Amino acid sequence: MSYRILLPAAALALVAAPAAGQSFSQRKVLKRAETQAAILQRQLPPAIQQQVAAAPGKPVPVSPRSLTPTGELIVVPARDWTSGFFPGYLWLLSEATGKAQWQAAAREYTARLEGEKTNATTHDMGFKVYCSFGTGYRLSNDPAYRAVILQAARTLSTRFYPKVGSLLSWDHSRDKWAFPVIIDNMMNLELLFAATRLSGDSTYYKIAVAHANTTLKNHFRPDYSSYHVVDYDSASGRVTKRQTHQGYAHESAWARGQGWALYGYTLCYRETKNPVYLRQAENVARFILTHPNLPADGVPYWDFNAPGIPNEPRDASAAAVIASGLYELSTYSPNGAEYRRQADRMMSSLAGKYLAKPGGSRGFLLLHSTGSKPGGTEIDVPLSYADYYFMEALLRRKSLAAGAALPVQ
Ligand code: GLY
Repeated sequence: MSYRILLPAAALALVAAPAAGQSFSQRKVLKRAETQAAILQRQLPPAIQQQVAAAPGKPVPVSPRSLTPTGELIVVPARDWTSGFFPGYLWLLSEATGKAQWQAAAREYTARLEGEKTNATTHDMGFKVYCSFGTGYRLSNDPAYRAVILQAARTLSTRFYPKVGSLLSWDHSRDKWAFPVIIDNMMNLELLFAATRLSGDSTYYKIAVAHANTTLKNHFRPDYSSYHVVDYDSASGRVTKRQTHQGYAHESAWARGQGWALYGYTLCYRETKNPVYLRQAENVARFILTHPNLPADGVPYWDFNAPGIPNEPRDASAAAVIASGLYELSTYSPNGAEYRRQADRMMSSLAGKYLAKPGGSRGFLLLHSTGSKPGGTEIDVPLSYADYYFMEALLRRKSLAAGAALPVQ
């Protein structure tokens, strides 16, 4: 059972008060984003050629993900969980600037992912197809994109197991887990909700709700922090393990996972208006925003319980996901003004010392994200999903400032 703890705004302000006068120019940040995106676009073809030559016969790289430790561009094939973020980012850039050039680029990179609509081997369909085709559909109404979204939802639905009441997240790591469900999976429900809206077929909605309810029951600790991986016995639906994959420890709070939880239950509330999801999102927000290890600039360390804090890498991607989620949550919750203030604080930080120099970082926008510290990969680097959620949050911030509805489906 979940119960509501109203976030006492005054108490929260005491824990994590933003410095006075934090602000930044949206126009300047957008200009930087355009400069950077143009550089990234130029660098992609030679980087792709190089990667193809180095690994002939491997799936063709299509979308930029990050940088190697020596600063080379990492471009990933369509099947990679991050492939949808760059096309989605270009769509958001077209929305933010109104420029046709970004829409043309968005269309080009989106088209490269279409084959994923029938790839049933992963839960990451929403990240791949909804951030790209979904954002594209919202902005263009292209019926071909609608068809891709519906096929992708049909494919994702094949991973739903009624006995567990969840989508199966991963097919890999089966030596460790029998039926792993990860908190990240909440983000892919957006695709299913959209499919019901677009088709009138309630099957997808019901799967999304079942998954959200099962995750709500099993993924959270009493303080509303989330486990990363919950493993189930698929025959009985019983939980067998609660563990981590990208966090510091099984009982720690991996920063981006907390962001996925916050954003995930906020979108579930948007789609269902079930107050249980609103309370869950508020409770997760309280965990994040009142945590003693949340730094003064609001950009989390990669794990709230990382042992070397304050000498641990940050995760700007977690901050971007949390800020975007908080902006939306601010429109639903009585704590809205405080959520918006906290999101503004994070965005001011990201738009300051976390922003890449013009021409730097091979065209990525944000610095200082962490992909997987335990895996020893992508530590203190730019990541395509940090840029995507930052741009989304920037658009949400602008809408709120104008008193307009948020640009969501
Ligand atoms: N979904 C994988 C991650 O957040 O790193």
